[in-house]
Amino acid sequence: MGLLAITPTAFASRVGAKPVFSRYPFSLGVASGDPAPDGAVIWTRLAPEPLEEGGMPMKAVEVGWEVASDERMRQVVAKGNAIAPPDLGHSAHVELQCLEPGREYWYRSRAGDEASQIGRFVTAPAPGATVGRLRFALCGCQHDETGYFKAFRHLAAERPDFVFHTGDYIYEYRAEGAARPGRVRQHNGDEIYTLVDYRNRYALYKSDADLMAAHHAAPFIVTWDDHEVDNNWAGTADQDGTDPQLFLLRRDMAFQAWYENMPVRRAQLPKGPDLQLYRTLRFGSLIDFHSLVTRQYRSDQACGDRSSRAAPRPLIRIGQSSAVRRSSGWTGSSRLVRRPGRCSGSRLRSTSATSTASPASAG
Ligand SMILES: [Fe+2]
Repeated sequence: MGLLAITPTAFASRVGAKPVFSRYPFSLGVASGDPAPDGAVIWTRLAPEPLEEGGMPMKAVEVGWEVASDERMRQVVAKGNAIAPPDLGHSAHVELQCLEPGREYWYRSRAGDEASQIGRFVTAPAPGATVGRLRFALCGCQHDETGYFKAFRHLAAERPDFVFHTGDYIYEYRAEGAARPGRVRQHNGDEIYTLVDYRNRYALYKSDADLMAAHHAAPFIVTWDDHEVDNNWAGTADQDGTDPQLFLLRRDMAFQAWYENMPVRRAQLPKGPDLQLYRTLRFGSLIDFHSLVTRQYRSDQACGDRSSRAAPRPLIRIGQSSAVRRSSGWTGSSRLVRRPGRCSGSRLRSTSATSTASPASAG
């Protein structure tokens, strides 16, 4: 298999000189997501001062990345450069393509003289392949103040094929840890409203060593619930009756920060206060995995967000879910299928939200 070389294009003129960081820039780790039969997204966000707006200069920074077929990164099968622009909180999203289906890969990033931690992902089985077993973890509603994230440490040790995160990746609430019994930690600052607020809150959560270990161990498929924006938000309504036009400004900033901090594809880049979050991922003939959205396209909750005797409770609580369409018995390993003409020979391709691919053959 050959190597991929990626050259920055549109952002090339904005890239600053080789950066020198005052502190380790990969404080938020690396992550992968949305596995496909031929690749996945790999992500990082440079933040030497993670809780203070990242601590990066207002310049685009080049981030090198490489993917290997072994855990020690000795057999590199793809590498390239992406751009981490200030417009996106110095995050970099790389969409890998032309990898092999149904197998493990490892990856890391570099910036300046610093190298990131090493992460692992597993590509999805080949389209239509008979798959007898898939191991994935389900998680959500991780409130930093109300508990430690030790479950993520155990999740990481089990090395699942992927992790489905059902949302409430952060909570927007103000710091209450010191004032309320049972709280084990404290949020950074007041309730979050601005893009900087959301960035700093994601940094707080993503600095957690156990959550970071889970990201390093497996690709995540993420959706959101309400707390990525505001408690109980629905469509253009928040829980406080804010003017919808004002709330959409907050939603816009929350969506941008979410994109910056999640290993998702460019298809999920926000367009103002809108973001296409729903998507389907396929795992051979075993699962069509529909990641749903239950907040963005709906009317407000009844009864001012409160339960009432006058309002009958719904029989079914609608939440984030996935749909398992069909299953089949175990008959063997995945079948490798390549799309004709796209990844032939030693050519590999990749796209990034902040760089474009220039396929090349190398050793
Ligand atoms: Fe929740």
